[in-house]
Amino acid sequence: MGCGASNATTGGYNILVSDTWNQVERTIEVRKRPNNKLVVKRSGWKTVRIFVSSTFRDFHAERETLIKEVFPDLRQWCESRRLHLVDCDLRWGVPVDSSTEETLRVCLGEIDRCYQDNIMPFFLNLTSVAMIQSLLSERCGWIPNPLEVPDSIVEEYRWVMGLSVTEMEIMHGAYRKDNLNSLFMLRDVSFLNNIPAKLKDDLVDVNPIAPEKLRVLKQMLKDRFHENQVNFYKCQYDGVDSDGKVELKGLDDFSKTVFQFFKTRIEEQYPLEEKTTDPYRQIMESHESFMRNRSASVLGRNEILEQIKEHIVSVGVDKALLLLGGPGTGKSSIMARVADVSVEKAISRDIPGSPDQGWHVFYHFVGAIPGSPDLEACLKRLLKELNIINESKMPKDLETTCQVACSALSNPNTKPVIIIIDALNQFDESKESTVLNWLPVKLAPQVRCVFSMIDDTPQHKTLKGRSNKPVELFVTPLDMESRKAIVVESLGKYNKKLDEEQMTSLLSKESSQNPLWLSIACEELRVYGLFEKLTKKIKSFPDGLLSLLESVLSRFEDESGGQLVVATLCLLECSKTGLLERELLMILGNPKNITPSKDVNNLKNDQTVKNPLAASNWARVYRVLKPFLRPFGDSGEGRLDFYHRSLSKAVRAKYFKQDSWKNIWWHTVLAKYFETIENMDRQSEEYPYHLTKCDDKEKLREYLKQWRVFHHFYHPEFSGELLAFWRTVGDKSELFDCYTESLENMNNNPNVDKEEISLHYEKVARVVMQSGDVDRCFNLLQSALALEDELGAKPMRMMQLYNVAATMHNERLTLHDFITKAMMPDLKECISFRRKAIRISEQLTERSEKYKYERAFSLMKLAFNLKTWFVLKGDNNLSAQEGFDLGVESLKEAKELYEELGDKGHVAECMMNEGLLLGEVDQEGALEIYRKAEVICIQTYGEVSVLSSRMFTNIAILLEEMNNYDEAYTYFKNGLSSKIQVFGDDHPQTGRLKRVLQEPAYQRLARQEQQQNQQR
Ligand SMILES: Nc1ncnc2c1ncn2[C@@H]1O[C@H](COP(=O)(O)OP(=O)(O)O)[C@@H](O)[C@H]1O
Ligand SMILES: [Mg+2]
Repeated sequence: MGCGASNATTGGYNILVSDTWNQVERTIEVRKRPNNKLVVKRSGWKTVRIFVSSTFRDFHAERETLIKEVFPDLRQWCESRRLHLVDCDLRWGVPVDSSTEETLRVCLGEIDRCYQDNIMPFFLNLTSVAMIQSLLSERCGWIPNPLEVPDSIVEEYRWVMGLSVTEMEIMHGAYRKDNLNSLFMLRDVSFLNNIPAKLKDDLVDVNPIAPEKLRVLKQMLKDRFHENQVNFYKCQYDGVDSDGKVELKGLDDFSKTVFQFFKTRIEEQYPLEEKTTDPYRQIMESHESFMRNRSASVLGRNEILEQIKEHIVSVGVDKALLLLGGPGTGKSSIMARVADVSVEKAISRDIPGSPDQGWHVFYHFVGAIPGSPDLEACLKRLLKELNIINESKMPKDLETTCQVACSALSNPNTKPVIIIIDALNQFDESKESTVLNWLPVKLAPQVRCVFSMIDDTPQHKTLKGRSNKPVELFVTPLDMESRKAIVVESLGKYNKKLDEEQMTSLLSKESSQNPLWLSIACEELRVYGLFEKLTKKIKSFPDGLLSLLESVLSRFEDESGGQLVVATLCLLECSKTGLLERELLMILGNPKNITPSKDVNNLKNDQTVKNPLAASNWARVYRVLKPFLRPFGDSGEGRLDFYHRSLSKAVRAKYFKQDSWKNIWWHTVLAKYFETIENMDRQSEEYPYHLTKCDDKEKLREYLKQWRVFHHFYHPEFSGELLAFWRTVGDKSELFDCYTESLENMNNNPNVDKEEISLHYEKVARVVMQSGDVDRCFNLLQSALALEDELGAKPMRMMQLYNVAATMHNERLTLHDFITKAMMPDLKECISFRRKAIRISEQLTERSEKYKYERAFSLMKLAFNLKTWFVLKGDNNLSAQEGFDLGVESLKEAKELYEELGDKGHVAECMMNEGLLLGEVDQEGALEIYRKAEVICIQTYGEVSVLSSRMFTNIAILLEEMNNYDEAYTYFKNGLSSKIQVFGDDHPQTGRLKRVLQEPAYQRLARQEQQQNQQR
């Protein structure tokens, strides 16, 4: 054998060492692999194990780098290729009081497991050698006494005698099989020269045979393996850490070599099958992949699973099942299992109700897959899988998609389907996602829905408030058995094991009933490198999910990037809707941004030219935070945000609790960044929000004043967000003054076209009116009308402006607490303008959507005013009865037009007006119509909207007239709460409801309610 042992000059141990190796050589199974290739075809997930072999104490620094940097990066890469990476770092896991046999069995047995899983173990060995002859020698590790090695081991592993444990690992994991997946990293001992004497004990071997053993080993490895498998590296002493362990620097090349080697080897052995190019299929596969992956590791939970299964297979259900619970209680895991079982059952035709077609199972995990929080994309995928839409028949926007989905899910002809959506409350915030107007109140019999969500979120409240209440199921805390199983399983995967006392100590924490707490605790233990202190570490875990997360965050700060980690967390927490990766990198790239101070002005005036954060710095931060972030896609198209809501709370508790100035700081940083970006959509989402948070009225006024911003937020019926921002700036007159000044400038500018100016006058008039400033909007409208006159009074424009005028008069009417004769002047104007608008529409020949919309609007609003007309008994030109009849007729046409337009919200409004009119002659009939209108309204807009607030109020008034004060009180209260949220606290319409609730009858009910609450 060519080990060179005979040339040894050291100590006379050469004979001994070479004997050992000769013995080993005789047992070699594979001389040299003829064909250095190993390719495994696969479908689905596969586990890849990396065995790390070295003496422990002296490679503490390298092992820390591996477990906290190299392997997490490699794991991330693996996951994108459907591979689980398990690194076997046996620093702890072999119990302290183990016998020689047990210890050897664990080490060698683990390698056996690697053979089973990966044919050839992915094997990494760390060894120290002297590059040049040196008197110092590092540790060769424990050499078991031959008398202690039991026969059974010798029988099984014939070559073990005389070898150190590390050498045995090398033999078994690499050498004897010429393992092409093995990598040897040989460290030059020269760094020992700079280490203080008292620390050398950990690193220097007192066993006199060590130098010779290591020298021979080096030679053997070089002879046997390919040159890229045997690498030398150098490093330098870098002080000690808080646990007194030697730290090393200069390990960058080491990390790169290890990462690159295994990446290449894994890629070659487990190539990824060709991916489909159909984007819908790709997304479906991502969800499938998540589902299978998660489902496989779910332990316990039999009872809940049984209950959900029952719901799915039962006949005649027309409502959804909701799985409810706090963050980290295990909802997603259960949902993954539910999806898995449903697919299985569907395939084996084990679900009754669809003998011919079978069942389609649709599942979607919000937040777990890039792009998944996009409700529109989710619904389109569902509709596509149900063959309801296709590329040539695609709904144009979210609203239409919701409508299509709603009718599909209530249609008995839709393909039978089980819809499983996890984390329903995590869809990107939009009206449709909180109001759930895509989900019909009554499901068709062959549509089964199971949704999970955090309880008491707007989504949960919406569904709970529906007339057809969903079935609710709360996730229960983990029982002891499952907790134990989770610990054993999650540590066992890495060959780690707690002793009885440690397990009891861990599970005695109350929070161990929360699966998220438990899995974070296990992960903290897994990456913890000091076996001696493990028990203490377990005891130190704080009870409470938030506190545990806070302590994890502290570790991240210490180990990976300090203030950069803090800044990333705080910026994400303060952002309104999460941040794009490139946005975050630009902000973090300016060092002035990342350290908060009370002096915000300094920051505001900072003119530093911005560059994005260097990729290597970002990688360190991202690596540790990744498990806590939503995946956002390879190309960075999605937003970075927290995966579990609990982390968001922990960040708030840890970094903001005492110091409100820190909050202001981060919002200022964000405001400063978004102030200058080009993308209007992102800017309007974030910039004014942060200005509001920092209470920067000046800048907010400047921003809102810009016409492009005004147009962005403008809505003809109600510009809620714009008005809310203005409320931060000041009272109504601020808004009025600001825009009228801009209008005057525009008017004085000869280059601006008159049509443009007229449109601007109209829009500002509407917004001023929406702000509750009714009187001042008239002048603005007059200016618009005058301009249109000059331009030739085009019918469509006149129709629109007459409608605005009518709406303004109507707005004044709503301020009266009761119907009184004093309303007559405004009421007459209002009706007359509406009729003028309607008359014009009769002359229009073009029956476009715009026409239909405008005409329906006039008719519907006219009917509303005719109710008051009827009560006030009309006048000589239009009698009360004529008014009533005209109202009924108008509503009929308006409703038809809106139905043609597919505009459900306005259909509900027509029905409400029908109820209003009818209430004068048939209260019971009116109430029935109101209730129907209410359902449609809430399903379309939710509880907080202009129409809902009016709906509640009108129903309350009718109930009061019917002497049903109890129910009227509830409706008035809902109405008030909606008005406050929509219009603000000091809007006249809000004021009116407040006055109603001050009346003695309602005060009495309020007191009763209070007493009842106290008794509870
Ligand atoms: N039954 C279970 N068995 C094993 N691990 C679980 C179980 N339930 C939850 N976990 C683990 O706990 C963590 C949090 O669970 P998750 O399902 O994401 O909670 P939620 O969706 O309620 O926030 C995950 O890491 C998950 O792997
Ligand atoms: Mg979840």
